Amino acid sequence: MSEHVHITPLRRISVTDAAAWHQVVAASMAHDLPDVPPPGPGQVHAQLTKPTLDSHRLTWTATGADGVPVGVAGLRLFTSPGRDHLAELELHVVPAHRRHGTGSLLLSEVVAACRTESRRSLIVEASADSPGEAFLERWSFRRALSLDHLILDLDQVDENRILKVGDSDAEHLGYRLTGWTGTVPDELADAFATAKNAMNDMPVGDLDYGSVDWDADRVRAMAQVVADRGDTLLTIAAVHEDGTMAGYTEIVLPQGASSRAQQYDTAVVPAHRGHGLGLWIKAAMVRRLRAEHPSVVEVETDNAEDNVHMLAVNRELGFRSYRRTREFQLDLPTA
Ligand SMILES: CC(C)(COP(=O)(O)OP(=O)(O)OC[C@H]1O[C@@H](n2cnc3c(N)ncnc32)[C@H](O)[C@@H]1OP(=O)(O)O)[C@@H](O)C(=O)NCCC(=O)NCCS
Repeated sequence: MSEHVHITPLRRISVTDAAAWHQVVAASMAHDLPDVPPPGPGQVHAQLTKPTLDSHRLTWTATGADGVPVGVAGLRLFTSPGRDHLAELELHVVPAHRRHGTGSLLLSEVVAACRTESRRSLIVEASADSPGEAFLERWSFRRALSLDHLILDLDQVDENRILKVGDSDAEHLGYRLTGWTGTVPDELADAFATAKNAMNDMPVGDLDYGSVDWDADRVRAMAQVVADRGDTLLTIAAVHEDGTMAGYTEIVLPQGASSRAQQYDTAVVPAHRGHGLGLWIKAAMVRRLRAEHPSVVEVETDNAEDNVHMLAVNRELGFRSYRRTREFQLDLPTA
């Protein structure tokens, strides 16, 4: 059946290409993930056309005999020194065209590109117990990390508990809370970059994820990438009286009218762990969202299932289980 499908690399993405891509992703997600809001057309256009941090993207579409797109594949190739072995895949086939070899055809283009680009690790996320998992196992990807996704309903947050945690400054003597929107203020940029390096010990299971070194320019570049996509980045941080940034938490509000915010990093640097700072900064973020962004009604986060401390903090705040995904990895021979 797959002889009727034509695979085309997309070199320059037009508005029409992005709209077709959006339709494929929306149809695929509506089938497999009916509870997950698909990205809007504007988000997909930005994702495909705006620069990413330290990476570039290759894209392919699969079209049927009538020229209508039935599948898409996007490959993110990381370029920073600690991560230039890695490529990350996004792959979708519309439900009506599945099990005809289209996903496999797209994957073979992706694997060939990984070889050309000297990648040793190809990673991809799939929902637990989904067609995606069956497909990846068929092609010898191995399970590398299990993730619990959690949701916090902001209008059901226990106000007393959050206020109590947020007001307990006395228990955090020597620390102060601060926050910003978008790019970190200059006077905090170096301290923030140092704290960002604390994310390098985040549990990643058996993923060959590598690591990146953060400095002030890189944290500014990351904020710029989010802004260029049209999204809003909110950060709350705990700063120690000696000027060290002890911890921080980041939320992204997607462009458009999305009512769901996405949790990005939360980290407490090792020397400051065990003092309740993780709960303190996340509670402060909940209060900020409720006060400043009332149209946001929920927050989604994902944690490695063995990240017990982060999961405990999230449960304490009222996050509930939502869905499970797994990161898969294909190890590729290198020349
Ligand atoms: C994963 C996905 C891209 C597969 O696309 P596809 O065009 O159906 O894939 P193929 O027809 O090439 O399947 C190849 C083989 O994978 C396995 N496979 C694919 N879907 C399967 C399913 N639902 N159940 C069991 N095995 C499956 C089979 O071995 C299949 O060969 P067969 O049909 O001869 O038995 C598609 O299901 C999809 O879009 N899923 C949602 C997106 C997603 O999960 N992406 C992340 C993981 S890639």
